Amino acid sequence: MPVREHWTSRIGFIMAAVGSAVGLGNIWRFPYEAAQNGGAAFLVVNFIAIFVIGLPAILAEFVVGRRAQKNVVDAFAGVGHPAWRFVGVLGVITGFLILAYYSVVGGWVLRYFAASVTGAYFGDPSAYFSASAAGFDALFYHTLFMALTVGIVALGVRRGIELSTKLMVPSIVLMMIALVVWASTLPGSGAGYRFFLEPDVSVIVANAETIIPAAVGEVLFTLSLGMGAMITYASYVDSDENLSTDGIAIVLVNTFVGYLAGLLVFPLLFAQGVNPGEPGAGAIFVSVATAFRTLPFGEILGVIFFAVVALAALSSAISLLEVVVSFAVDNVSFSRPVVAITIGGLIFLAGIPVAFDTDVLTLYDSVTSKLLLPSGVFLITLFVGWVYGRDAVDELLHGVDSRRGRLLGLLWLWHVRIVLFAAVVMTLVLSVSEYLGISLFG
Ligand code: PHE
Repeated sequence: MPVREHWTSRIGFIMAAVGSAVGLGNIWRFPYEAAQNGGAAFLVVNFIAIFVIGLPAILAEFVVGRRAQKNVVDAFAGVGHPAWRFVGVLGVITGFLILAYYSVVGGWVLRYFAASVTGAYFGDPSAYFSASAAGFDALFYHTLFMALTVGIVALGVRRGIELSTKLMVPSIVLMMIALVVWASTLPGSGAGYRFFLEPDVSVIVANAETIIPAAVGEVLFTLSLGMGAMITYASYVDSDENLSTDGIAIVLVNTFVGYLAGLLVFPLLFAQGVNPGEPGAGAIFVSVATAFRTLPFGEILGVIFFAVVALAALSSAISLLEVVVSFAVDNVSFSRPVVAITIGGLIFLAGIPVAFDTDVLTLYDSVTSKLLLPSGVFLITLFVGWVYGRDAVDELLHGVDSRRGRLLGLLWLWHVRIVLFAAVVMTLVLSVSEYLGISLFG
């Protein structure tokens, strides 16, 4: 058994975890979910969900991973009981399926990046999107995206994941800030900000049944929760690090980038009179491309924008692949590069149908985000709150024990046991019923 790799430093872990969290979820999914769910109304529910659900849940995953020092499947066996392995297996399956479609969308982004350099999408943005979304071009860029992901994971925890995210994450944040500043100069930006930032309470009340599961689902997705990415990354953390402050930093940076995306995308849409509520995964691609075509400095800013999205997607994709690869590396005798290539190849194959049919994409997305991720979060919460229990608090406090810390730790445990638990049960019920098309409230 080779010695388990660890992050070289605390910043290494934080960058990797932020890289996992900041992704298509923030820049592509968040604005379109927000647009479809009443704009600012969605933002309010999302903001509450980040702190009531996201932060305690990310800490729950951290304590499992760090204690176990194992991949997600063996972590549940090690910290709890072998019977809990199935939760890890579920996570591995979920990661596999998410990456299969994530890589196709990542491929669209690479194609848009290439096109922004040449100006190719400036002709007819919506025809351009159709041509990018499904077909051999989609397949080609899916292949390229997957190859990049595999390449980084094959290099290992330090030389691959840590090094690359240390470069990618700061670039993402800086470029994003520049884009937001530029967007603030656009003529329609005021209307965009109002749509994004001025909540209408009546919209929340009237649509709670759909807004709440959508907002919570988005928080889980954007923080990479419910499938073991954070468990896996925490398994590379040394035991004397303060997980709570790391968790807070990761959640804050991720939220910051998500809101920056909103502050960029909505002014862009309003500047050209696009209806932000337009449904569909492609709407953002079409309208953003349209915006860059017509707005001042749009050409150069388009290059920056698609570079940001591509880096964000890549730094998340490596964490999805790492969940599966880490499980395999711990259990077979092949080397990491061989395992990464093999598993990456299988995920690539699973993504092929997605590259030819966007309905398959919607299917993969809704199965994972409405069924698998909420189930995963539910099981992890149940496990940490009621099986791992007090030991979870000890693990959280490792290296930072103090009386005040102990009190906060216990508070966290009871929050996990009751508030988080109730919230995830509710989310699970609402998202499963939404998936099955059942309306619970008449
Ligand atoms: N958090 C990533 C994003 O926002 C997606 C992701 C989900 C990554 C689950 C890893 C695990 O795009």
